[in-house]
Amino acid sequence: MEPIRVGVVMGGTSSEREISLSSGDAVAEALERRGHDVVRIVLGNGVDALDSLAAADMDAAFLALHGRQGEDGCVQGILEMIGVPYTGSGVLASALAMDKVKSKELFRLHNIGTPPYYVIQREQLDAGEELESVHGSFGFPVVVKPRREGSSVGVCKASNMKELAIAVEEALLYDESVLVERFIKGTEVAVALLDGKVLGSIEIVPDGELFDFGSKYRSSKTEYHLPARISEARLHGIFHLAERAAEALDVRGPARVDMILTEGMNEYVLELNTLPGMTERSLFPRVAASAGYDFDSLCEQILAGARLDSGLKLETIGRRGLASEPNIWQEIEFEESELAWMPSSGRSKSAEVGQKAG
Ligand SMILES: Nc1ncnc2c1ncn2[C@@H]1O[C@H](COP(=O)(O)OP(=O)(O)O)[C@@H](O)[C@H]1O
Ligand SMILES: [Mg+2]
Repeated sequence: MEPIRVGVVMGGTSSEREISLSSGDAVAEALERRGHDVVRIVLGNGVDALDSLAAADMDAAFLALHGRQGEDGCVQGILEMIGVPYTGSGVLASALAMDKVKSKELFRLHNIGTPPYYVIQREQLDAGEELESVHGSFGFPVVVKPRREGSSVGVCKASNMKELAIAVEEALLYDESVLVERFIKGTEVAVALLDGKVLGSIEIVPDGELFDFGSKYRSSKTEYHLPARISEARLHGIFHLAERAAEALDVRGPARVDMILTEGMNEYVLELNTLPGMTERSLFPRVAASAGYDFDSLCEQILAGARLDSGLKLETIGRRGLASEPNIWQEIEFEESELAWMPSSGRSKSAEVGQKAG
């Protein structure tokens, strides 16, 4: 593609900040090698996100953020407001995918297998509800995780009430709301998608029972198999499952679907990540490589998909097109009948409707 000015947005305030900085650096270097004019935008505590994004004067934003206030639709919302096309999913899909409870509700609605679960709110325990009675006959073992985190932060396995209490306390450090999910014994596989199309799969054999933060980022014993070591027929099945999961949440751009496959031939989707890690060790670029994308061309392909929820695409908006045009405000007159739904106190015969020039 033609060189453009691209802001690589990284950092943020989530627990995945460090990973995001690594992803962002790797992406920025790749886009520079491709000849783009790259500006690194590092968000974080004390940084005004709106000012930083608006000041960058960019044609498009490449989002290399992970976790809350990055992967959850907030930054996407700012970019929608200032009219800068961005990579990856839109506001709603990002928010849904970040929220493991809402994702699972949608998966269930679409008949996509996901482990049975229940939710505990901090306020229930604060109000004196007993964990034991909340847990009831759910059984063990379970996996406890914060509702809106990533990178296995705060994720723990519990095999009895004592461990459950500790795991819930740990998960509540990260969120007001916590999921208790049935532990599924099986093979862990991630499927990578780009713009709704499957790039491939990777099997993870974690160093320990869970693919937790340590086995993800620190261990040298975690094994990766590319593609996953399963039959061709099952592979096709899980590719279709991953596509359906992406459709259920209405995601676009890159996505990684984490799942567990059991010996009994059941497939469970754990979650879908809309801004998968882009570090050297990350799963998404590794799978993309097996589909023929080297890291630089993967970054450029993701960038080429930058767009706004309104449907405006980078390729149609062009360089500095939309973002830099001044707003022209237009008065629109309404008919009395069109205002009937509005309480009379709030009625006005005209409204300001923003229109972009050109
Ligand atoms: N229900 C489960 N059964 C077995 N392992 C699980 C389950 N849920 C999570 N895990 C393990 O914990 C890891 C992190 O959980 P995941 O739901 O993917 O959250 P995160 O957003 O932190 O990646 C998974 O990669 C998997 O190894
Ligand atoms: Mg995961």
